[in-house]
Amino acid sequence: MTVFNSPEFDNHEQVVFCADADSGLRAIIAVHNTNLGPALGGCRMWPYADDDEALRDALRLARGMTYKSAITGLPYGGGKSVIIGDPKTLKSEALLRAMGRFVDSLGGRYQTAEDVGTTVADMDILRQETEFAHGLSGSSGDPSPATAYGVFMGIRAALYFKHQRDDLRGLTVAVQGLGNVGKRLCRYLADAGTRLVVADINEDAMQAAIRDFGATPVSPNDIHKVEADVFAPCALGAILNDKSIPELSAGIVAGSANNQLAGPQHGEALRKRGVLYAPDYVINAGGLIDIYVGEEGGNQEAVLKRTMQIYDTTLTILERAASEEIATDTIADRMAEERFRDRRNCRVAA
Ligand SMILES: NC(=O)c1ccc[n+]([C@@H]2O[C@H](COP(=O)([O-])OP(=O)(O)OC[C@H]3O[C@@H](n4cnc5c(N)ncnc54)[C@H](O)[C@@H]3O)[C@@H](O)[C@H]2O)c1
Repeated sequence: MTVFNSPEFDNHEQVVFCADADSGLRAIIAVHNTNLGPALGGCRMWPYADDDEALRDALRLARGMTYKSAITGLPYGGGKSVIIGDPKTLKSEALLRAMGRFVDSLGGRYQTAEDVGTTVADMDILRQETEFAHGLSGSSGDPSPATAYGVFMGIRAALYFKHQRDDLRGLTVAVQGLGNVGKRLCRYLADAGTRLVVADINEDAMQAAIRDFGATPVSPNDIHKVEADVFAPCALGAILNDKSIPELSAGIVAGSANNQLAGPQHGEALRKRGVLYAPDYVINAGGLIDIYVGEEGGNQEAVLKRTMQIYDTTLTILERAASEEIATDTIADRMAEERFRDRRNCRVAA
């Protein structure tokens, strides 16, 4: 395994390998960039095939957090940690406490929260070892409500940009994935008078959407082809690829799923097809805002108020991309880089 030659290495400031023999903990903490503040990013627990895969994931996800924090205007850098192992079998209090001690050893340069494979209850355990664990029970907790609200704001901004209207009455939105974010997004959309077409591999989630929102179910293989005003991917990454992009019917893609573009070329492929893409990390930042506002002592109302700003951020990106005739994800990356690389924005002058 090499770090500096890894394809995902992007001048990350620090990569820490953590092992605790007693609990079986093996973990990697990646700090990408701390120019704007401490590197914040969730702790993922996953049965990676090998250490290389875990390292690549940590590096890639940490970099993504730098961009998300910067574009959202939060005083955070980007980081991520991954614990190697199946959470169903390997997770224990001792392992989580050991992880908490490693997080603590970085003195706040890296701060963590829940992610795939970890929960609010797990963060409560980490917190017993470090003050740098967030998303605790009784405070910010579940980030999904704020994430769903931010995606709703992103959808409205994209509609306004494309059609000069952000009222969703009578429009059709195709939602892929009815989990924590998707089902809450459906609630916002249904309340706004939207017709919903939905897909999930979980039959119970489908039935709930039919019952609660009068949604029309379609096969998970066909949801991106549905004739809709908006396609909202809220399940998997890499959903926008060589195969799916030519099959899209909706004129707007805006959803919560991370890493929707299969490759860097696919943002431009969408632009060429005339599909307006609201970049994933711009509109799914509500969970991050939730942590920030919660740490500042704000309540849920304050979280939603701050999350509303995703509307303006999205609109700015779409306008700039159109005027410069380049893909929206490219512009979002550039705007984020302008913020976190501009020394005037830096928390500590280098
Ligand atoms: N939860 C958050 O606050 C948050 C924040 C930022 C980004 N995201 C991203 O948003 C997405 C959804 O997050 P979530 O918390 O709702 O996850 P979740 O696990 O609660 O829900 C995902 C849903 O997608 C469904 N699904 C899986 N494969 C599918 C397929 N092939 N077709 C259709 N449905 C499928 C699952 O059955 C599940 O219902 C993820 O990509 C996540 O990384 C979530």
